Amino acid sequence: MVCGASRGIGRATAEALSEAGAQVIIAARDGHRLAQVVAELPQPVGQEHEALEIDFGDTAHIGPQLAELLHSGPVHVVVNNSGGPPAGPASQAETAAFESAFRQHVVANQVILRTLLPAMKASGYGRIVNIISTSVKEPIPGLGVSNTIRGAVASWAKTLSRELGPFGITVNNVLPGFTATERLEYFFEQRAEASGNSVDTVRQQARMRVPVGRFAEPREIAAAVTFLASPAAGYINGINLPVDGGLIASL
Ligand SMILES: NC(=O)c1ccc[n+]([C@@H]2O[C@H](COP(=O)([O-])OP(=O)(O)OC[C@H]3O[C@@H](n4cnc5c(N)ncnc54)[C@H](OP(=O)(O)O)[C@@H]3O)[C@@H](O)[C@H]2O)c1
Repeated sequence: MVCGASRGIGRATAEALSEAGAQVIIAARDGHRLAQVVAELPQPVGQEHEALEIDFGDTAHIGPQLAELLHSGPVHVVVNNSGGPPAGPASQAETAAFESAFRQHVVANQVILRTLLPAMKASGYGRIVNIISTSVKEPIPGLGVSNTIRGAVASWAKTLSRELGPFGITVNNVLPGFTATERLEYFFEQRAEASGNSVDTVRQQARMRVPVGRFAEPREIAAAVTFLASPAAGYINGINLPVDGGLIASL
């Protein structure tokens, strides 16, 4: 199951997992886009992908909607991914923004986990991969609510990795750096507005900070997620994996 898969990193992840042979459930709010993605996913004989129109902010309905899907068998891989919270400094954010981000990112992940975990445990195989952000290691200026919530998801994941390891279930985080998606363009527009620079200038400044000199393609993030979801990654558990072209300066 790949969350937030109607576009961007989630969509690329659904593509990579289906190329690797997985039968994929993609979830997001925009049913029209989801239907297009499902139709375009690689679908050799025997693979049947599904779309689930769902709002991760509406946590009361996630469990019942997901439970219906379990009739077609256990979900072995969950990729938790959702839209990032609005930009802005933490000191100026309304408390409602923190509550809403906590619900959409932490509570939603927990509801998904509780719904899918029994079947995962019974299978003796599970992979939970959370797409969060490099802000787990270095908070990003101007993304106050996001920085805070990413830290909460990282702590949730580390705790779970220790609880679920004995069941053959690993829990890991992928931390994308600048990745060429709609979210990145939104981030540059916000930065430009706050700094008085043009969007082009902000984009260029960001690119210059990345040691490999470019932004990631969504499929490059997806490749890391796909590896962590595979049997080959069975001994990797509880990590934060930056996929950032070397952006994070710390060890
Ligand atoms: N791109 C980057 O440079 C970058 C860097 C670091 C971290 N990240 C983080 O990585 C994640 C994915 O990034 P992205 O760039 O691929 O973002 P994106 O292009 O904005 O895509 C977000 C996906 O999440 C879905 N989504 C948003 N809100 C949702 C909700 N309430 N319920 C269900 N689905 C929802 C969207 O679909 P619908 O609108 O159809 O619901 C879409 O499929 C985000 O959390 C982002 O902040 C991105």
